[in-house]
Amino acid sequence: MRTVLGIESSCDETAAALVTDDRRIVAQAIASQEEAHAPYGGVVPEIAARAHAERLAPLIGKVLAEAGMTLEDCDAVAATAGPGLIGGVMVGLVTAKALAMAGDKPLLAINHLEGHALSPRLADAALDYPYALLLVSGGHCQVLRVEGVGRYRRLATTIDDALGEAFDKTAKILGLPYPGGPAVERLAAEGDAAAVPLPRPLLGSAEPHFSFAGLKSAVLRAQDSGRYRREDIAASFQQAAVDCILDRTGRALEHMGPVSALVVAGGVAANRSVRGALEGLAERHGLRFTAPPLPLCTDNAAMIAWAGIERLQAGMAGDPLDISARPRWPLDPAAEPVRGAGVKG
Ligand code: KG4
Ligand code: ZN
Repeated sequence: MRTVLGIESSCDETAAALVTDDRRIVAQAIASQEEAHAPYGGVVPEIAARAHAERLAPLIGKVLAEAGMTLEDCDAVAATAGPGLIGGVMVGLVTAKALAMAGDKPLLAINHLEGHALSPRLADAALDYPYALLLVSGGHCQVLRVEGVGRYRRLATTIDDALGEAFDKTAKILGLPYPGGPAVERLAAEGDAAAVPLPRPLLGSAEPHFSFAGLKSAVLRAQDSGRYRREDIAASFQQAAVDCILDRTGRALEHMGPVSALVVAGGVAANRSVRGALEGLAERHGLRFTAPPLPLCTDNAAMIAWAGIERLQAGMAGDPLDISARPRWPLDPAAEPVRGAGVKG
């Protein structure tokens, strides 16, 4: 049996986890920086990097102690090497390099998006390749055909904002606390989703890509008009976003080829309306639907350790100790660049 130590530090969660190849999360710990960033209404990269540097080593110690293990018992050290906020990524990657060197263990430099993409397989042993994946996080909104470890075909991406970004900006406009996604979802539950007319960008268009910038601007206009209740704006925004997700993901499925399941992962996969709508879409396409449990949707280190295990299982070698952190790192480097999407990977 293999055990991998996973490290995650690409955004505002400092996390460490020990995962075995029989899909057991032996121990894990997450230190959220929500309080540190809340006064600024978003993640401040410099504050994030410092917090990771302070918290990571004790967190790793805690996880090992909880599991009753030492570095010696681990088969490899896996860390997010990008994409993300470069300062934080470097803290995690350098720590992993030091541990790999000291313990003479393979270093696995993991693409954070690969962590999200494979996380459903950690939770669901029956999920086979290839599967259709909607990856929706604070920085990304993509539909991928996951064909195997390291084999991702991107069929759709956003031409402007990511879905989580749209939730976060809507939260800011409505004066809700950071992080915005869960706050918008809570408020939406009390509102009328038909109360505010909002656009559904790119609905029905031939290419399966996403766009949320126009929706966000419409939310701002609705709020500024003073004509609507906040809960109605939140509910109408969430409905518009879900309508876009359904239409666009449905279109991507038409271009996908055969897959075993429809899967949603990434932070926004924690949203119940998004999950429910996709479950219906999968049913209409005759596909199995699966989504990781909520703690595996948002950033965590278990998914990074699991991606490491999948790499080892596939016979892939460890990475050199001089490997660099990558602020941008697309999962499918061969994907055609989409107008406006250059920075989203
Ligand atoms: O995957 P993640 O934890 O970090 C990134 O890799 O970006 O995703 C964070 C994003 C944030 O934009 C957050 O607002 C959103 O996921 N999010 C949600 C919910 N929970 C987290 N969005 C909508 N509804 C939620 N319940
Ligand atoms: Zn993430």
